Amino acid sequence: MASHQESSALLSTAGPRKTAASTLVFISLAITTAVALSAAAAFSFLFFSSSSSPSPHSTEALSSRPLSKLKHPVVLIISSDGFRFGYQFKTDLPNINRLIRNGTAAELGLIPVFPTLTFPNHYSIVTGLYPPYHGIINNYFTDPIDGQVFNMGSHEPKWWLGEPLWETVSNHGLKASTYFWPGSEVHKGSWNCPSNYCMPYNESVPFEERVDTVLSYFDLPSDQIPSFMTLYFEDPDHQGHQYGPDDVRITNAVVEIDALMGRLIRGMEERGVFQDVNIILLGDHGMAGTCDKRVIALDDLAEWVKIPKEWVQSYTPLLSIRPPPGYSTSDIVAKMNEGLESGRVGNGEFLRVYLKEDLPSRLHYSDSYRIPPIVGLVGEGFTVKQTRSSGQECGGAHGYDNAFFSMRTIFIAHGPRFARGRKVPSFENVQIYNMVTRILKIDGASNNGSVSFADAVVLPTHSNLE
Ligand SMILES: *[C@@H]1O[C@H](CO)[C@@H](O)[C@H](O)[C@H]1NC(C)=O
Ligand SMILES: *[C@@H]1O[C@H](CO)[C@@H](O)[C@H](O)[C@H]1NC(C)=O
Ligand SMILES: *[C@@H]1O[C@H](CO)[C@@H](O)[C@H](O)[C@H]1NC(C)=O
Ligand SMILES: [Zn+2]
Repeated sequence: MASHQESSALLSTAGPRKTAASTLVFISLAITTAVALSAAAAFSFLFFSSSSSPSPHSTEALSSRPLSKLKHPVVLIISSDGFRFGYQFKTDLPNINRLIRNGTAAELGLIPVFPTLTFPNHYSIVTGLYPPYHGIINNYFTDPIDGQVFNMGSHEPKWWLGEPLWETVSNHGLKASTYFWPGSEVHKGSWNCPSNYCMPYNESVPFEERVDTVLSYFDLPSDQIPSFMTLYFEDPDHQGHQYGPDDVRITNAVVEIDALMGRLIRGMEERGVFQDVNIILLGDHGMAGTCDKRVIALDDLAEWVKIPKEWVQSYTPLLSIRPPPGYSTSDIVAKMNEGLESGRVGNGEFLRVYLKEDLPSRLHYSDSYRIPPIVGLVGEGFTVKQTRSSGQECGGAHGYDNAFFSMRTIFIAHGPRFARGRKVPSFENVQIYNMVTRILKIDGASNNGSVSFADAVVLPTHSNLE
């Protein structure tokens, strides 16, 4: 690993003075997003502190609806990867709209955790933990202690901290099933990924087959029907990366997801369980359009500090850098920012680097030895590369600051424990773990969600009221 024995003379000391103007763009950007987050928090307070919201179903809004066919509560979480908040307005989506109209939805979307990447977010949804506490701090990273590499195919339990919902559920003697989810194949506690309930990841399995398998669980004897189920689709993330969020192929992919929801709803109706199942349809993150005109090249900083590619753990949209031992990380951060703010580095004002402990605390991205010491926040839609190239590629990316609206995804919940026709303010996905344990009436592991928030979104049962 650490084969770089060059001295810290790499750190040039002769950089030009920083100009205030270029920092303004980034700072005002950061302020705008911080305001958006605090507005969401304030709105949330107002919403939940008001005792009545006008609803056509105000009498039934007080408590959950009884189960008609199932003998125990069931939660099905469906993830549509990269379903950016707003995609649901691109065209008419009759099935998703049916879930929204008769369910509870986050009015301005679900807020992902930082970094807004697939593995960190999926694992936050099922553990209720911010990434430093569940350990999956990026889609791939190197453990700085033993040098081992985590990637999206790593199933060794040592990487996966926290207690995912399938483990919590089976620890309580209930059944869980996973039709794909990051971490679901990892053996933890009483969860050993049983072959009939835990599908090994295979992206070639047709989406319809995934839906039909989940439906088939409802044909099992009552005590074999899982209390908790997951279902995962790679779209529209796949199209979002290739074509960006505004392409017609996104609209087509979203129409397909809607058709899959139709297939699921019909299958449940045929089995008489649609009104009994708590369906949570969500995504892991959104998508921002990228273009090679919006590139920041690390090589352009050479006049201030040389950043060899061996130091870079990931480039974009999450820039993370681990210099070899012996280098001063605070010097590197200072030199990089000096160059970025100089006005002489292309798009420099759209990247700001931090020592991880100096990142805004709202990002919850410092408290893990796995996170490299230097982290960059990249402007929305910008791309960090080692070398400026002459490409003209456009596409989409995610991983940016979770305060950007473009990173938001959907939260749509339908079922006996969710009010019909209700909109709730945006919230972070770490709140979902407690909602599921509430619905299943089990004690969860300690996590970063708040029990009172879950109680405000999930309807109480009659027995809770009495
Ligand atoms: C919403 O639920 C009510 C009560 O079950 C039902 O009559 C109505 O058809 C549902 N609406 C939609 C759009 O599914
Ligand atoms: C993945 O799924 C496809 C389609 O069902 C199947 O043909 C293939 O054999 C599967 N691959 C593995 C490794 O199971
Ligand atoms: C998140 O939860 C974990 C586990 O309970 C705890 O150790 C950690 O301090 C929490 N962090 C925050 C920021 O709440
Ligand atoms: Zn993606």
